[in-house]
Amino acid sequence: MRRALKLLAVLVLVSTLFSSAACSKVKEMKETQGSSPKNLQKKIVLGFSQVGAESDWRTANSESIKAAAREEGIELLFLNAQQKPENQVKDIRSFIVQQVDVIAFSPIVESGWDTVLKEAKLAGIPVIIMDRGIDTKDESLYETYIGSDFTEEGRKAGKWLLEKIGKSNEKVNVVELQGTFGSAPTNGRRDGFQEIIRGNPNIRIIRSLTGDFMRSKGKEIMEKFLKVEGDQIQVVYAHNDDMALGAIEAIEEYGLRPGKDIKIISIDAVKAAFEAMKAGKLNCTVECNPLQGPALMKAVKDLMEGRPLPKRIVIDEGIFPEETAEKEAVNRKY
Ligand code: AHR
Repeated sequence: MRRALKLLAVLVLVSTLFSSAACSKVKEMKETQGSSPKNLQKKIVLGFSQVGAESDWRTANSESIKAAAREEGIELLFLNAQQKPENQVKDIRSFIVQQVDVIAFSPIVESGWDTVLKEAKLAGIPVIIMDRGIDTKDESLYETYIGSDFTEEGRKAGKWLLEKIGKSNEKVNVVELQGTFGSAPTNGRRDGFQEIIRGNPNIRIIRSLTGDFMRSKGKEIMEKFLKVEGDQIQVVYAHNDDMALGAIEAIEEYGLRPGKDIKIISIDAVKAAFEAMKAGKLNCTVECNPLQGPALMKAVKDLMEGRPLPKRIVIDEGIFPEETAEKEAVNRKY
């Protein structure tokens, strides 16, 4: 029995050494690609797993990450999880096998990450959470979380509504187009908005459905809301601009005027939202800044150079009501 156990231990050790030697080789190849002296230096290798390509915001976020990595000379292994958390788990595992220096990811949903993050920790690879937060009791599983304050974004949307419409004594029926179910921005934006409107009994959320942050689904859901509620809807609260733009199409096809018959407030502040505001079809957009690449690369470098990181890095953001659209549109970078 003892001999058998010994044999098993040796086998495990040999296979571990073999696979880690193979992985080091992959890494070595990446580090020495090209022949300029700069390329011969050891490059930091960052594995990043992105949510998907569901919105204009996401496109700008991916571009920001890629450009910042190029700028900082960091080798980026970029994977797209296509909105499926199980793909993200696979992505992270593949980064562990490749022994990257740092893993970063924008978690599609908040929960379910502990197991794979423990695997990264065991492999000695630090993890940075970006854009969307995670729900874990063990904060040692990641180094820092860089991203927006989604609850505050929801509060800003709620405050705008209270100020604009909430003062009158009339009933205000709101329909809500939520983002991906279980994701940090959906939970934060829902809770922050509710927290503010709770103070006014005239404002009521009469329908709420998830449109996955996509324009096509935003349109589909708005069509359903209109079919059931018709002209009982006074306000659309969309968790992102893409869904608001889809809702605008649905409202027009239904024969009402978006921005006038039905007020619309959304989140992100992408260029297309400014165009919609200029056309009088959207009333307000709360900023969620996707240009997080430079902050991520700085954190990666700090980590690699042994500088301490704050556990939370919050991105600074504003709010753009329709009156500001004309002036601000020219300044938009995404
Ligand atoms: O996580 C950020 C959110 O995800 C953005 O608001 C949305 O547009 C994106 O898809």
